Amino acid sequence: MIRVVQSFAVTRERQLSYSNQLEQEVSRTAAVRKELERSNRELQDFAFVASHDLQEPLRKIRSYGDRIKTRLSENLDPISEQDLGRMLNAAERMQGLINDILALSRVSSKPQAFVPTNLNTVLDEVLDDLEIKMQQSRAIVKREPLPTIEADPVQMRQLFQNLLGNALKFIRPDSSAELSVLNMPTTLPGTIGIAFGDNGIGFDDKHAEKIFTVFQRLNTRSEYEGSGVGLAICRRIVERHGGQIEAKGVVGQGAIFTVVLPKVHRKA
Ligand SMILES: Nc1ncnc2c1ncn2[C@@H]1O[C@H](COP(=O)(O)OP(=O)(O)OP(=O)(O)O)[C@@H](O)[C@H]1O
Ligand SMILES: [Mg+2]
Repeated sequence: MIRVVQSFAVTRERQLSYSNQLEQEVSRTAAVRKELERSNRELQDFAFVASHDLQEPLRKIRSYGDRIKTRLSENLDPISEQDLGRMLNAAERMQGLINDILALSRVSSKPQAFVPTNLNTVLDEVLDDLEIKMQQSRAIVKREPLPTIEADPVQMRQLFQNLLGNALKFIRPDSSAELSVLNMPTTLPGTIGIAFGDNGIGFDDKHAEKIFTVFQRLNTRSEYEGSGVGLAICRRIVERHGGQIEAKGVVGQGAIFTVVLPKVHRKA
């Protein structure tokens, strides 16, 4: 009897100790999460302020550069003219990069409310905007009716625009572009899935995660234009919506980007 009581006491003591440990672990995780959220916010604010404040001096460099070019155009020797041209091109590229960083930080700093958003309308509008590029690459689009979900419609447009813009950019010169926007079954209840496919140059699957990082590009600027911010914006938009985005590629055959998004959002 005594032994039973003793063993019960030991078990009970162990249970209490486990539960204390668990509580400590939970509160430590909550503290780490809070700290991460804070430093994330700080980093985003920094990116926004830095890129915003860089615009003014850069505007001056470009406008004074333009003035010098106009004023001296007749008298500049060829080498100086070339140098000035390069300087102005670099300043223009920098302006583009700053605009991209601002667009990235605005995903979280200037969000609109989630409202019922018909993804067919989003797709129609984006395809309309991309019409010229579609004609140039003789693109055909295979599409399925998409659902209506609670989302930020402006950001959904940005998401579709970046993914379809990439599909039309990274095409193979020897074949016409085939794009697809299809429904995809998901394992998570309450979510929808969309797969954006193309038959373009594709990429080595080992880069599938890296390409979502800011300024990460797998090709040179002379081959394909761009600064490598589009997919970082896509990931930030999808994460803000509580979803997931992933990429799969096969070199020389094409790429598929899958997006999973919740249908509705709990009210804050
Ligand atoms: N559909 C695709 N097919 C093949 N490679 C792709 C595709 N989409 C993205 N990539 C690769 O991922 C990189 C990152 O894409 P991302 O959209 O972020 O940048 P970008 O298109 O080069 O520039 P930006 O979007 O800023 O104009 C691209 O440079 C390219 O190497
Ligand atoms: Mg892009």
